[in-house]
Amino acid sequence: MSAARPLSPGAVVGILGGGQLGRMLAMAAARLGLKAHIYSPDPQSCALEVVRRHTLADYGDEAALDGFAREVDVITYEFENVPADAAMFLASRRPVMPDPSVLATTQDRLIEKDFIAGLGVATAPFVRVDSPAELSRAIETIGRPAVLKTRRFGYDGKGQVTIRDGTALEAAWRAIGGRPAILESFVDFEREISVVAARERGGRVECFDVTENEHRDHILKVSRVPALVSPAIADAAQAIAETIARAFDYVGVLAVEMFVPRAGETAVMVNEVAPRVHNSGHWTLDGASVSQFEQHIRAIAGWPLAKPVRRGRIEMINLIGEEVEEYARWLAEPHAKVHLYGKAHVRPGRKMGHVTCVSLDPAGHI
Ligand SMILES: Nc1ncnc2c1ncn2[C@@H]1O[C@H](COP(=O)(O)OP(=O)(O)O)[C@@H](O)[C@H]1O
Ligand SMILES: [Mg+2]
Repeated sequence: MSAARPLSPGAVVGILGGGQLGRMLAMAAARLGLKAHIYSPDPQSCALEVVRRHTLADYGDEAALDGFAREVDVITYEFENVPADAAMFLASRRPVMPDPSVLATTQDRLIEKDFIAGLGVATAPFVRVDSPAELSRAIETIGRPAVLKTRRFGYDGKGQVTIRDGTALEAAWRAIGGRPAILESFVDFEREISVVAARERGGRVECFDVTENEHRDHILKVSRVPALVSPAIADAAQAIAETIARAFDYVGVLAVEMFVPRAGETAVMVNEVAPRVHNSGHWTLDGASVSQFEQHIRAIAGWPLAKPVRRGRIEMINLIGEEVEEYARWLAEPHAKVHLYGKAHVRPGRKMGHVTCVSLDPAGHI
């Protein structure tokens, strides 16, 4: 089902996944007069707290998927590891945006990187690795340091290991669970950036300003906007995001994570693509005229995108694990806007909330 008509207010948006991204999408839908229906296997999903409609079932449960499809007008995801079969099953019943074929590409780092390279966009050099013997051969080609990453189900640095001068290859292979993988050259980057872009059903693309991302323990800790890059790099980064969105015939919001190599080296390199709203776009809730969540809802509803206008210099800080317990301190900060996701349990490395600080003085520093 692809020839979908634009939704009217009151229509129901089905969201696969019940985490904080689903929660913020549901709130954006509500503000536009749309209803949200969350599908999640986990009764403790924090998105369930902000919706009246939900389906609690596994992604393999066809009866539940069918019932969900009947209750909604359009289907989207907040979580890219929704099984491709479930997305295809739903697509035979209701419009699914972005198209499930996008999931098939972005769920697998090898397919994703081949796709990006096929668009003429730079990535770190990479090689497929399916066995310890292939890892030995791959390290000859790629050199050290290198990063070994599982093809599927990696996030927040899980399923990857850096291979340095002394690292034993057998140990690295075991560390990622001996699963199908890619070996990538380690990029000596100057900074990491991302572009969050939205594409309308009609094909128009709007990019948010380029964001600079600082990771700690492989988890995003701080995003800053604007990124401290030259206008040429910012333009190139946005052009890459637009190229990827068009190549996917994408509808909705996607994020492209990139490395800016140290001066004198080659162009911006794509690290990975997230076919959904993204943590590095959370600043748009408080720092732009339209948020990434609203842009996504507008796009999948068949409504026009807004042209995003940034409100100042912005810093978004993730509250990870026990850091959420400092919420009272953040509430007392005059510039800080506090977002807590209402998750039932604090766990190390878990994203529990975020804080946005907007400095309205364009020349000022936070
Ligand atoms: N080839 C690489 N060179 C240097 N750093 C890397 C490389 N690949 C990943 N990293 C670091 O690890 C982080 C997480 O890796 P990424 O591939 O984005 O996986 P995840 O799915 O866990 O986000 C990146 O944001 C970056 O900081
Ligand atoms: Mg990443």
